[in-house]
Amino acid sequence: MTLRVAIGADHGGFPLKAELTPWLRECGYEVMDLGAETLIPTDDYPDYALAVAEAVASGRAQRGIIICGSGIGACIVANKIPGVRACPCHDTYSAHQGVEHDDMNVLCLGARVVGGALAREVVEVFLKAEFLDEERFRRRLQKILNIESQNMIKRKDI
Ligand code: RB5
Repeated sequence: MTLRVAIGADHGGFPLKAELTPWLRECGYEVMDLGAETLIPTDDYPDYALAVAEAVASGRAQRGIIICGSGIGACIVANKIPGVRACPCHDTYSAHQGVEHDDMNVLCLGARVVGGALAREVVEVFLKAEFLDEERFRRRLQKILNIESQNMIKRKDI
């Protein structure tokens, strides 16, 4: 099955998204480009981070990539959405280990931090990595899911 990847970027990440999107398609991935469609110098990263995070949380995409200037704002927003495990990674070890051990499903990139060549390598290992089906990783993931569901219950009580 072709992996469906949602991608989004604000003005800080737009040039890198413009570089990565056609490359991802050439690599055979199905890409949902959730904007920005053009470089909008006044746009806000939460809008694109939310769109990508919701695509992943709903299952419309299996993985997400959000690009802003640093990767940090995108990550803060994406992790507000239950079911999303987003991290900024600018090295290849974190990008695959985050999936293998932690079931990371959204990669955040800072276009002002990494160049295109390193970003491609990071994205490549992120998309090829799979969660390792080992008891210790399942146990830790379940603890994360428990925290998430407890928070959802608490919010309902407010
Ligand atoms: C936009 O200038 C910049 O603040 C944003 O892309 C991002 O780096 C936030 O984390």
